[in-house]
Amino acid sequence: MEQKRVLTLTDPVANKTLALPVMTGTEGPAVVPIGNLYRELGYFTFDPGFLSTASCRSAVTFIDGEQGVLLYRGYPIEQLAQHSTFLEVAYLLMYGELPSARQRDDFTHTIDCHTMINESLKRFYDGFYHDAHPMAIMVGVVGSLSAFYHDSTDIHDPHHREVAAHRMIAKMPTIAAACYKHSVGEPVVYPKNDLGYAANLLHMMFSVPSEEYVVDPVAERALDLIFMLHADHEQNASTSTVRLAGSSGANPFACIASGIAALWGPAHGGANEAALKMLEEIGDVKNVPKYIARAKDKDDPFRLMGFGHRVYKNYDPRAKVIRAACHEVLAKLGDPDDPLFELAMALEEAALKDEYFIERKLYPNVDFYSGLIYKALGIPTNMFTVMFAIARTAGWVAQWMEMIAEPQQRIGRPRQLYVGPPRRDYPVTD
Ligand code: ACO
Repeated sequence: MEQKRVLTLTDPVANKTLALPVMTGTEGPAVVPIGNLYRELGYFTFDPGFLSTASCRSAVTFIDGEQGVLLYRGYPIEQLAQHSTFLEVAYLLMYGELPSARQRDDFTHTIDCHTMINESLKRFYDGFYHDAHPMAIMVGVVGSLSAFYHDSTDIHDPHHREVAAHRMIAKMPTIAAACYKHSVGEPVVYPKNDLGYAANLLHMMFSVPSEEYVVDPVAERALDLIFMLHADHEQNASTSTVRLAGSSGANPFACIASGIAALWGPAHGGANEAALKMLEEIGDVKNVPKYIARAKDKDDPFRLMGFGHRVYKNYDPRAKVIRAACHEVLAKLGDPDDPLFELAMALEEAALKDEYFIERKLYPNVDFYSGLIYKALGIPTNMFTVMFAIARTAGWVAQWMEMIAEPQQRIGRPRQLYVGPPRRDYPVTD
């Protein structure tokens, strides 16, 4: 019989001991539940940035950052990238198993039924100036969805939760494409449900009413691949934001809007946009040593964007897949001799040989190469993080549904180490 592991914490001053039973999951490090610590010993734990804190129990995604492993519901990302599609992955994340052929068709049909957005919602876009960042528009538009879909905001009703999840996955491409159309001053294009998920997005972004538009299958497959790679990544900043917002009972549309806001930052989903801008700024292979030196200089805020990861201390498995896809996409759609691709490879090579990056285990992450693919597909830089948000919606809704269904679900309420002034009296002057 397996021996139960217990950690013992002793406070010699109070002369108290607390036995903490160790919990093990299916993979990854064991965890020590410390929920009783305050009640028993009067301490909080202190872990800004959650370096050693598991915030929840989850069966959706597993990452082994040391080995460079990423599993969705147990399936390795490399295998999914080779054999699956984004919608199948979305189903897998939401329901826990790969769909049968019938379930896949039904799910696709359900998503297709929800691709349109309310006509009134379209007017929302007009309130934004034409040069508004598409992420700013997206946060606003997604947040407003709860005002349109009252029939799917009762979080205590499993059917409402499921319908809200379907709506989010289905409407994100339509909302994203409308953000783009608004920025270029073209009419919004309606979804065409005989197209696949990624193809529909390309159609809504790049077709115009006056001309026939045929989606390139290489572009469709590349976008679908990127979406699969970005679909979930366990308890990252945006997913944790969705969970925290959701823990208060907020409606799912508001929760996803909060996730989009958290994703926007350059340390998270904004890195794809920042990485491409960085490559453009570096400009030439001959400038690589200068920028490597800047990234290492602690007095310079410059960092190599698309490099490093909180969890991966090895090559990001998604980056490996995307790097290979990049060759293929550029050969077929873009410029195979794209100087930015050549530059990206030179920068990666130089960093991977550099002691600073080796010591800190800094490797390219998924966003080092994704921008080059987006660029080859004709997607403008300010839409890169929007693309990420579309894909991550599958993970956000799966994680949100898991959280709500958890029997012991409680509001998330971190504690703090207060370092402000102690109690003092208001200075009363007569
Ligand atoms: N360039 C240069 N140095 C770096 C980089 C980088 N990209 N990333 C980390 N470092 C250095 C830090 O300066 C630090 O050095 P020190 O130990 O001498 O102080 C050390 O490596 C550890 O870095 P932290 O910032 O402590 O690591 P953390 O886990 O907090 O941050 C993060 C991870 C935010 C991803 C960071 O590596 C970074 O800013 N990367 C660039 C932005 C990026 O690509 N983000 C995308 C993440 S993936 C995603 O969300 C899809």
